[in-house]
Amino acid sequence: MEYKLKVCPSLLAADYGYLAEAAIAAEKAGADSLHLDYMDGHYVPNISFGIDLIPALRKRVRLPLIAHLMISNTEERLPDFIKTRPDCIVIQEDTVEDLSVPIERIRKAGIKPGLAITPPRPLDRIRNALRVIDYLLILGVNPGFGGQSFMEETLPKMEEAHRFRVKHGLSWDIAVDGGVNKTTAPRIAKTGANVLVAGTAVFGSADIGKAVAEFLAMG
Ligand code: DX5
Ligand code: ZN
Repeated sequence: MEYKLKVCPSLLAADYGYLAEAAIAAEKAGADSLHLDYMDGHYVPNISFGIDLIPALRKRVRLPLIAHLMISNTEERLPDFIKTRPDCIVIQEDTVEDLSVPIERIRKAGIKPGLAITPPRPLDRIRNALRVIDYLLILGVNPGFGGQSFMEETLPKMEEAHRFRVKHGLSWDIAVDGGVNKTTAPRIAKTGANVLVAGTAVFGSADIGKAVAEFLAMG
């Protein structure tokens, strides 16, 4: 199976006065999807945008929208997120007891289910769930803020996840989120992880098109 390298800009780092323009610029630059960080000020010490962003962006771009939920009450709020129809909903694995319940709920709604895992958490707990998801998001930083430095110790987890999906013939993407930039991306791609989620490196750059193109050229 081939796992094509993809670029998924994270809107958290965009200018909020020009969110749609940033999304359109990323689409024009050849990005594969858009990453939307939902933060509740409880699971993480920061609050980002609300769920109405998804339908608003839907009218402006055709890119798949990936909703990354960094919220404590994942199961309680899941129906609201499902209603807004993102293409993929990624939940934090440590916010849910029985992972199969939200995963099934998301899939039944015709949306791709994904799991996110923070730097200190091993893959062990989610090993069974890895057979039934469509997207694995490995965090390269402790979630909450953009612009943090990539934690090198997360690289072996990416290798491990890649070995697992190859061994079992699984087609899902391994996305890496947090601290992805021109220096860290080649090392991340070397592990087999194939989706570069980048906020600051794309939207903090003077030339969004060039930033996306540089990442794409690493494939
Ligand atoms: C981290 C978020 C990331 C964030 C990454 O809590 O989940 O998606 O936008 O930002 P950068 O690319 O700036 O590290
Ligand atoms: Zn994220």
